[in-house]
This record gives sequence, structure tokens and C-alpha cells, in this order.
Amino acid sequence: IFAAVEMAPRDPILGLNEAFNGDARDTKVNLGVGVYFDDNGKIPLLAAVKAAEETRLKAAPPRGYQPIEGPAAYNTAVQNLLFGKDSDLLAAGRVITAQAIGGTGALKIGADYLKRLNPEAKVYISNPSWENHRALFEAAGFIVEDYAYYDAGTRGVNFAGMKADLNKMAPGSVVLLHACCHNPTGADMSDAQWAEVVGICQERGLVPFLDMAYQGFADGIDADAVAIRAFSASGLQFFASSSFSKNFSLYGERVGALSVVTASKEESARVLSQVKRVIRTNYSNPPIHGGALVAAVLASGELRAQWETELAGMRDRIRAMRAGLVDAIKATGCAQDFSFVAQQRGMFSYTGLTAAQVERMKEEFGIYAVSTGRICLAALNTKNLDYVAKAIAAVTK
Ligand code: LMR
Repeated sequence: IFAAVEMAPRDPILGLNEAFNGDARDTKVNLGVGVYFDDNGKIPLLAAVKAAEETRLKAAPPRGYQPIEGPAAYNTAVQNLLFGKDSDLLAAGRVITAQAIGGTGALKIGADYLKRLNPEAKVYISNPSWENHRALFEAAGFIVEDYAYYDAGTRGVNFAGMKADLNKMAPGSVVLLHACCHNPTGADMSDAQWAEVVGICQERGLVPFLDMAYQGFADGIDADAVAIRAFSASGLQFFASSSFSKNFSLYGERVGALSVVTASKEESARVLSQVKRVIRTNYSNPPIHGGALVAAVLASGELRAQWETELAGMRDRIRAMRAGLVDAIKATGCAQDFSFVAQQRGMFSYTGLTAAQVERMKEEFGIYAVSTGRICLAALNTKNLDYVAKAIAAVTK
């Protein structure tokens, strides 16, 4: 039965981990996957998470099934982070949230539910977007197209192009938006631009789907929720996927959530019942551990404050690495100007390196990046910064 099976290509992002792990060079650097490493090159276990975990281990709780949509304590904690705890929408019961298997799982539940809701809709993603967005919505059965987003000339958002594309979309089209820290470009919209996007979605009857995997990595928890808050204030109905992989450093625990904003409390009950069917037929109900840690940290004033400090530490270190890389590249005498790296937001820089240059970085230096030229700044540290800068200078010569 498998005789005709073709070899699938490696995943463009996670496949790099496989190649990196097989590389014997001790100078190797993995700038591929979006993972935060500390200055020693280690994925941190946050102190707030560790404290919550110790308490949990001592309590040795039983491991029954969770509710299909996950526990209320977790889902409420998610809602407060996304919408703000004083949100009118939350008070009105207009938001449903289901714990998901990471941000990817949240997108998948949302995609499957949308396919049942509106099977003929087209899905639009930014050009460029996270590699998995297209694959994921196509796997759910949608036709996926691009809308203009990045302007390689200004290294910012091609807002005129984006608006023109949004204005061409048929009513009911699903438009996937990166709520903050655009992946892969690091180019975010301004508050005023978000307001315009909200207006167009409203006028054209689009279905916004906000993907927020990096809350807290640009400016802070509330500041990074500006898009969610703008859509919330508009009265629109929309989807939001969110993740604790990065901001809680809980990658492998797969902790995320899908939230859906509906028109009323009564509608929420019906929508939740349908989302639960999607979950039940995918994986039944979510795992306990990671979500319990997040809920415990966010429920404790002390641990939450500690977490926010640790998150700010990660954010500041990435900023320092951005500035450090710009300086280190300049110090090599490289003719090309990389100062834009310091302006981009979140974990990534869209460097403009070509696929051939990325390949040379790998072959000659053991430095791994996504073939589109995306590098993860959060994998830089004070020890590998100069090495990476020299490699970039060498391949761009
Ligand atoms: C990334 O873009 O590198 C991360 O979101 C990890 C992933 O799942 O691709």
C-alpha cells in the first residue's frame, strides 16, 4: 500500500531543526525556528512557570479528562490577556474560548470550524506569511490566496497595496491577520492602519482571523493586543488564535487557545457547541499540564508579576541582539546597510538574504535560517553574534 508514496519535502521551518541537529560543527547556530534562547543558548524555564509547576507537583492532582473546550480557569485567563479583563465583550458573554494544542492547533480548530460554517469562502493570508498558514488552511479544504503586505523597498507594510487587496475580497472571505510581531517580516501596522483595516473588514463583511503568537514580544501585553482590542471595539465578529509557546516558553507543552467573538451570549453558546464538535473529532479534549501552569501563573498576583518581568527580559534581550547585530555587521565593514533589523518587531528579521545566501550560511558556517531570509534574533547571544555578523557579511559580499 505504500509502494507509490512519494517523499514529502522537509517542513520549511521545523525541518531546519532536523538538519541542524544532524550538523556536527560546534560553531553551528540555529536561526531557523522561532524559539527564544537565553544568552547561554538555552531555552529558559521561566521562574514563574517553575514555581507553579512545583506547587502542582506537590499537589499531585489526578489526571481525569478535561472539558472538551478546556477548563474555565484557563480560558478565562486567556480572554483577560487578549481582550483585557474589563472588556465589554467578556462582560456581555460575546467571547468563547477553547484551549488548543498550541497556536497551530487553535488555527486548525478555527479552520475546520470555518470550513463547516462557510465551505465556499476563500482564505487570504499576507504576502509573505508564516509558512504553515497556507498549508494549514489548504489542509482544511480552503483555497488560499495572498494579500499584499510587505514592501521590500521600505521594509515596512505596503499599506496601499494591502487596502486595495482587502477591498477586492468577496464578502464572507476569511482574512488572516498577524495581530503583532508579523511573522516572518517583523513589520507591523500602526494603530491608525489597524483602525482602517477594521473599517474595511466591516464595510466588506470579511471574516477576520487574528493570529497572535507573540503577545508581549513587541511592546508589552496590552500594547501588543491593540489589534484585538480594535476589532473588539468595532462590534465585528471574529476569530483569534493565541499561543503561550513563546511568551511562557512552553513550546513543547503545546498551550494555545482559539477565541471566537460572536454577536451575543446566546450565539456564543451555539458557536461553542460547534467548536466543541470540531475538537472532539480531532483530539477529544486538551492535555492538562501546560494549560494548568499558565492558569496558575496568571491567577497569582505574585507569579503574574514575575512572569511579566521575565517576559520583559526576553523582549529586551531580543532588542539588544537586534542592535548588537546591526553594529556587529557594520563593524565587519559590510557595504550593505542592515540598520532596519533594529526597527523590526518580535522575534524575526526578514533580512533580505536570498535563498542562495541562506544556503551558503548553512554550508560554510553552519548557520541555519529559513530559505526566505527570515532569521530568529532570539537565538543570537553575546557569544555567537560576531560569528553570525561575519557570516552575513561574507555571503552578502
Ligand atoms: C516559527 O515560525 O518558527 C514558529 O512559529 C514555530 C513554528 O511552529 O513554525
